[in-house]
Amino acid sequence: MNYHILLTGATGLLGRYLLRDLMLAGVPVAAVVRGSRRQSAEDRIESLMGTWEDMLQRKMPRPHVLEGDITEPFFGLDTTARHWVEENCDSILHNAASLSFVATSEDSEPYRSNIKGVQNALDLCQETGIRDFHHVSTAYVAGLRTGRILESELDLGQQMGNPYEESKMTAEKLVRAAEFLSPPTIFRPAIIVGDSKTGFTSTFHGFYACLELAHTLVGSMGMIGTDAEGEKKIRISLDGTETKNFIPVDWVSEVITSIVTQPQHHGQTYHLTPRERITTMMIRDVLEKSHGFNGAELSGYGQPIDHPDEIERLFYEHIRVYNSYWRDDPEFDTTNLQVACPHLPCPTMNEELLVMLSTKALEMDFRWKDKQVKREKIPAY
Ligand SMILES: NC(=O)c1ccc[n+]([C@@H]2O[C@H](COP(=O)([O-])OP(=O)(O)OC[C@H]3O[C@@H](n4cnc5c(N)ncnc54)[C@H](OP(=O)(O)O)[C@@H]3O)[C@@H](O)[C@H]2O)c1
Repeated sequence: MNYHILLTGATGLLGRYLLRDLMLAGVPVAAVVRGSRRQSAEDRIESLMGTWEDMLQRKMPRPHVLEGDITEPFFGLDTTARHWVEENCDSILHNAASLSFVATSEDSEPYRSNIKGVQNALDLCQETGIRDFHHVSTAYVAGLRTGRILESELDLGQQMGNPYEESKMTAEKLVRAAEFLSPPTIFRPAIIVGDSKTGFTSTFHGFYACLELAHTLVGSMGMIGTDAEGEKKIRISLDGTETKNFIPVDWVSEVITSIVTQPQHHGQTYHLTPRERITTMMIRDVLEKSHGFNGAELSGYGQPIDHPDEIERLFYEHIRVYNSYWRDDPEFDTTNLQVACPHLPCPTMNEELLVMLSTKALEMDFRWKDKQVKREKIPAY
């Protein structure tokens, strides 16, 4: 029998690529999706599969959809749905998470989805006999560590950068501690950006939040982004040599799909990080080229911004949630990844690719919505 893989987070940026790639690889998928205010879980998946069909100009198979919420015990699946999982699924790819970097309490996001959500995933697996667990973590479980980070390392007592990293660290520990599982496969992507070929993205955090802010400043404040003598500059406390690990979503999905479909590579931890890191100077240059934002002055790493004016205050207020990423990234070792996927090198992350991604984001006006499907309702007689 061809068993399904249970996939969570299929409506998110990475999830929609995983759904596409797993199904194109012939893997039957059962997607756990929550309904939105306007659409049922099934209609949300139908909408996003419509997007794939438009983009790929081909018919796509459909996943089996289970309406559920990862923060509910057993994802809120009733006994019939759980029985279906028991009969039809032999593995899980737990990808859903909250990407909120701020928490208001210990029970709030991101802890609720990322810790409770993982515990619920484990309970569901134990109840339905799933032993093959693939977990999407993050490279930033390394927290504020510096130097070289090994795939075999997790908690070395490091300080974490924000509640999101903390929650993902706890989640990874829960998965590793679950004795009923076969050794779990852990994927640790770095900072995910759009598609390396099309520039498409459906979410606009991190890099895109900086782009959007620069774009807004250029649009609303004439003194920024002109090249005029004596123009206003925003001082950025970086020196331009700091590096960042950006990776395109299509590559992340291709690698995860390749490993999930090759059992000999299960049970390992993989850093999904690029071959070349980009620099903060490169990001500044991209802002100039794609957005005409000439107003960033790299004033030196860690330099305090004395007497910030109104625009600098506004700038720092908007990017406050990313404070812990305002630093040089560590170096992530990828030994396990090289063994499992020598045939899938990460596309070169350079200025040209970043300009393409940011131009596409601008064209999309930093928004994405799948076209809503209106399924025919069968009239009740
Ligand atoms: N983006 C990055 O830079 C990055 C980097 C490293 C690791 N990661 C990891 O990669 C994974 C995917 O991230 P992403 O960037 O694709 O995030 P995303 O676009 O925000 O997608 C998150 C997904 O999780 C689902 N989800 C969240 N809470 C849920 C709940 N209570 N019940 C059911 N589904 C829920 C969302 O469903 P709704 O559509 O219903 O909200 C969505 O499908 C996450 O585990 C994340 O930690 C991401």
